[in-house]
Amino acid sequence: MSPFHLLFVLPWLCVAVLASDPPPSCERKCSGIEIPYPFGLEPACALSGFNLTCNTTEGKLYFGNAELLNISLLEGWVRMRMDISSYCYNDTLHDMDENYSWVFDLTDTPYRLSDVGNMFTVIGCRTLAYIDNLDVDGNLTTGCVATCRQGEYSSLTDGACSGIGCCQMTIPMGLQYYQVSFDPRFNTTEIYNFSRCSYAALIESSNFTFSKNYSTSSAFNDYYGGQAPLRVVWAIGNETCEVAQEKSNYTCISNNSECVDSLNGSGYICNCSEAR
Ligand SMILES: *[C@@H]1O[C@H](CO)[C@@H](O)[C@H](O)[C@H]1NC(C)=O
Ligand SMILES: *[C@@H]1O[C@H](CO)[C@@H](O)[C@H](O)[C@H]1NC(C)=O
Ligand SMILES: *[C@@H]1O[C@H](CO)[C@@H](O)[C@H](O)[C@H]1NC(C)=O
Ligand SMILES: *[C@@H]1O[C@H](CO)[C@@H](O)[C@H](O)[C@H]1NC(C)=O
Ligand SMILES: *[C@@H]1O[C@H](CO)[C@@H](O)[C@H](O)[C@H]1NC(C)=O
Ligand SMILES: *[C@@H]1O[C@H](CO)[C@@H](O)[C@H](O)[C@H]1NC(C)=O
Ligand SMILES: *[C@@H]1O[C@H](CO)[C@@H](O)[C@H](O)[C@H]1NC(C)=O
Ligand SMILES: *[C@@H]1O[C@H](CO)[C@@H](O)[C@H](O)[C@H]1NC(C)=O
Ligand SMILES: *[C@@H]1O[C@H](CO)[C@@H](O)[C@H](O)[C@H]1NC(C)=O
Ligand SMILES: *[C@@H]1O[C@H](CO)[C@@H](O)[C@H](O)[C@H]1NC(C)=O
Ligand SMILES: *[C@@H]1O[C@H](CO)[C@@H](O)[C@H](O)[C@H]1NC(C)=O
Ligand SMILES: *[C@@H]1O[C@H](CO)[C@@H](O)[C@H](O)[C@H]1NC(C)=O
Repeated sequence: MSPFHLLFVLPWLCVAVLASDPPPSCERKCSGIEIPYPFGLEPACALSGFNLTCNTTEGKLYFGNAELLNISLLEGWVRMRMDISSYCYNDTLHDMDENYSWVFDLTDTPYRLSDVGNMFTVIGCRTLAYIDNLDVDGNLTTGCVATCRQGEYSSLTDGACSGIGCCQMTIPMGLQYYQVSFDPRFNTTEIYNFSRCSYAALIESSNFTFSKNYSTSSAFNDYYGGQAPLRVVWAIGNETCEVAQEKSNYTCISNNSECVDSLNGSGYICNCSEAR
């Protein structure tokens, strides 16, 4: 076995489940993306809840309808692409179009939206977008306002998302459900000549840089092809390491495997204590 090969195998050994080891015949790649256990492309190759789909025609990896871009085994996150919601003026109707807003539901899955590394990002010149979620503690709705007046176009600044043409906010920890909506009272019927659409999405912070033309054109949506990357954390089960270690289905059992509690809600991940 080449040293190169060994590097890819090591992390997988760390989280191997003795009782239900996946068959060695399992496909571990989809279009260049490594798919380490507990993830897999068939239920027999994955821990419950971690099976993914590879569309070989497109060369894309999916969790349900969401495209998966990266998997981090040691840090317990994945990157997914999620639709950008929009709310636009329609020249034919002479009114606002129905807002196009996307619901992302991760309840009863091992995934949670990461509060670290993501920002709810709203783009527009007259818009108030909400992020709604129904969590265990009841309903939560928060949002932010982005404005800019026609005469103020010059005050838009590349790289600065601070309320003028763009606003951002963090999300609470542990969310598994989210929906975007636009407040119809803040619409573009009076400013459609220079800003027809408003956009909102939860976006990986490091992947986003505000550009002036985002608030006055479709450049934002175009740049991301309608779908922006976001960080999603995953964890095994919903128990802490301490509790899970007593159970027969405990997963971090190989010698160099170390249990780490999930930082984002419940569950745990397995780390390589002897990894280089
Ligand atoms: C996991 O596998 C089951 C059975 O093949 C399938 O019904 C389910 O849709 C798969 N889940 C994902 C996210 O692909
Ligand atoms: C794969 O993607 C192609 C192109 O988008 C689509 O036509 C096809 O139905 C997909 N296959 C599966 C198994 O989802
Ligand atoms: C995601 O994977 C691609 C290659 O598939 C790599 O170039 C990129 O650096 C990875 N991104 C992160 C944030 O790890
Ligand atoms: C505007 O509204 C009309 C009538 O509902 C619809 O057919 C058309 O697709 C809309 N235009 C856009 C750009 O969404
Ligand atoms: C949360 O929203 C749902 C659906 O809109 C509603 O039925 C429920 O009463 C709300 N719960 C709380 C605690 O506000
Ligand atoms: C936009 O979508 C949200 C969620 O579906 C809905 O509550 C809201 O009323 C919609 N607003 C308009 C103007 O259609
Ligand atoms: C759009 O905003 C205007 C005020 O600027 C308001 O009169 C109108 O009712 C709003 N349109 C919709 C669809 O809510
Ligand atoms: C938008 O532009 C058209 C033609 O340039 C003009 O007739 C119309 O009055 C303008 N509408 C607004 C709301 O400024
Ligand atoms: C944003 O993410 C996409 C998809 O992984 C990547 O192709 C692109 O280079 C990233 N852009 C930045 C600025 O990080
Ligand atoms: C918007 O600005 C970005 C960065 O300055 C540029 O790359 C892009 O081509 C512009 N898009 C449009 C439609 O002007
Ligand atoms: C392990 O088993 C316990 C019951 O003994 C169950 O509550 C828990 O959800 C299981 N964990 C996983 C990751 O399947
Ligand atoms: C933990 O997971 C088990 C099995 O998936 C479920 O029965 C239980 O209600 C969950 N407990 C909590 C606190 O979410």
